[in-house]
Amino acid sequence: MANQIPEEVIEEVRKSNDIVDVVGEYVQLKKQGRNYFGLCPFHGENTPSFSVTQEKQIFHCFGCGKGGNVVTFIMEMESFSFVEAIKHLASRSGTQLPELGGEKESSLSQDTQNILSAYEWLTKLYHHLLRFTRDGKEGYNYLKSRGISDTAIDEFQLGFAPTAKSFTAEFLKKKGFNQALSVKAGLLSLQNDNSVTDRFRGRVIFPIRNHLGKTIAFGGRSISGGEPKYLNSAESELFHKGKILYNFDLAKKHIRKENEVILFEGYMDVITAYQAGINNVIATLGTALSEYQAKLLNRYVDTVVICYDGDKAGLEATYKAANLLRNVGCQVKIANMQDDLDPDSFIKAHGGKAFKNEVLNTSDTYVSFYMRYLKKDYNLSIEGDRINYIEKVIKELALIDSSVEREYYLQELHKEYNISMESLTQEVEIQRNKQGQQPKKDNPDKNRNTNRGLSYRSNKKLLPAFQNAERKLLSYMLHNPLIAEKVQEEMGAGFNIEAHQIIATHLYAFYEEGHLSDISLFIEKLSDSELQKLVTEIAMYPVLEEISDKEINDYIRIIQEHRNDYVSIQTLKEQQKLAEQQKDPLKAAQIAMQIIEIKKQLKRTN
Ligand code: CTP
Ligand code: MN
Repeated sequence: MANQIPEEVIEEVRKSNDIVDVVGEYVQLKKQGRNYFGLCPFHGENTPSFSVTQEKQIFHCFGCGKGGNVVTFIMEMESFSFVEAIKHLASRSGTQLPELGGEKESSLSQDTQNILSAYEWLTKLYHHLLRFTRDGKEGYNYLKSRGISDTAIDEFQLGFAPTAKSFTAEFLKKKGFNQALSVKAGLLSLQNDNSVTDRFRGRVIFPIRNHLGKTIAFGGRSISGGEPKYLNSAESELFHKGKILYNFDLAKKHIRKENEVILFEGYMDVITAYQAGINNVIATLGTALSEYQAKLLNRYVDTVVICYDGDKAGLEATYKAANLLRNVGCQVKIANMQDDLDPDSFIKAHGGKAFKNEVLNTSDTYVSFYMRYLKKDYNLSIEGDRINYIEKVIKELALIDSSVEREYYLQELHKEYNISMESLTQEVEIQRNKQGQQPKKDNPDKNRNTNRGLSYRSNKKLLPAFQNAERKLLSYMLHNPLIAEKVQEEMGAGFNIEAHQIIATHLYAFYEEGHLSDISLFIEKLSDSELQKLVTEIAMYPVLEEISDKEINDYIRIIQEHRNDYVSIQTLKEQQKLAEQQKDPLKAAQIAMQIIEIKKQLKRTN
């Protein structure tokens, strides 16, 4: 592959970025035996078939077949070029890269790169104004009045866009950014007379960063009561509200550590919680949680704690988000937010500790929340309403598989509405029978902890014996140069499957260059992605530490016999044709019998 980074450096970058850590930044991995398993980030799935091995430094998905090493993982995941992937990994591990001359290699279009650059400049500029200048004083004072510390202002790069009409427009012009592009990027607004003005004026700026920490949009809050309260950058190629989560980049490592994420509605909620030491916090961007976002979260964590405002709108939004999250397989908890408070004002009034103890740690399960949520539709002092309400709750309870859990909620109903446990239990049983064994709504999360990682199944059909033998042998060869050497002596690259021949040939060359067994490096040297996939799949075969020569010889024998049989069938077929041409039906029939016999034999061994 054409790049100017020396091999030793690439090698060092690869060595200093453990694949389990790197993949772990995108997928929640759980150890099962020697491998790690998780939900594949490259195709949608509910049971994990994506595996990573630390020893071999490779990943492979048994579901979609994708596989490779840490570099190819980043390339796939981020749509990066090879050089971009190396740069990304080098900066991740703090590995020094030599100055790369020549033009920048990027997988992004020039426009997109320019927009990113404009956002980067403006993030710094607005932040500087707010922090250190008179022009930004209003914004600074506003944030101070809302209790935001300097540290948080710096960490979130909060800024201020001045009130002047074309402050930003002038700045971008000076920096040489194209005006039409700045309009497209949502930084400037086009007026009716085709002139442009700044889109953000007199607003505190919340840079919206993508998962790599790059600003891709702004949220601007008016500080003078002007409408709208929040103004966001327009949606663009770079910025889709439904695909991004505020603060995901900073929260990621905390989310992984806690195996839990707290989902808020507002930027201020996130910042206030973060500065109070609750770091696994994110928010949507003024829109309802999307399925994309729900699936993204499901890949990272088991549990999402929804912490929306305590008002009516917040309750509705919670119900929708909870169901969306449950449907994609997340466990859901609902924070105990009191009426008419939002997380930001709660923390400001009572502090982070109280927020943890009284709001987060007293979270409701989904069922408790649902029981509370349903009440809004009924006047429970009327008997008819009460009965309808209880019936609805029972329908939900019937979906719970654990009898202990069901009993728990039935007790609640029993206590609250003074209905005997017998009749409640009976009602649930009737419902359960009615619902039959149909798939339960809460199955995915229920089975998550027990099933995750255990239930990967290969989609692959059973392979014929010779093909299996070839793969097993290759797997041993990948793990041990001595075995490769032995095979090379015995049969060269005489595999029956063409791809296996190619892999063996590359592998012999690889060892001849003086390398030890290094599957990740070997994959990198194979530039063909199909071959890379196949090698990772083969390398995932479990191999024994100690393998006898006899076993190796057996594999070789199976491979060669297949080859011999194949060769004999070809020869016999030619002889049969010849006999037919020579009008010797008896001989032709005899040969046909021989062919059938060999094929039968083949079937038996296969
Ligand atoms: N929002 C928006 N446009 C608005 C109002 C809100 O995009 N006109 C989004 C913002 O992302 C905001 C979130 O919705 O963070 C939550 O809105 P809201 O609860 O009204 O704002 P707060 O977070 O309470 O904001 P603040 O505390 O600054 O008043
Ligand atoms: Mn608020």
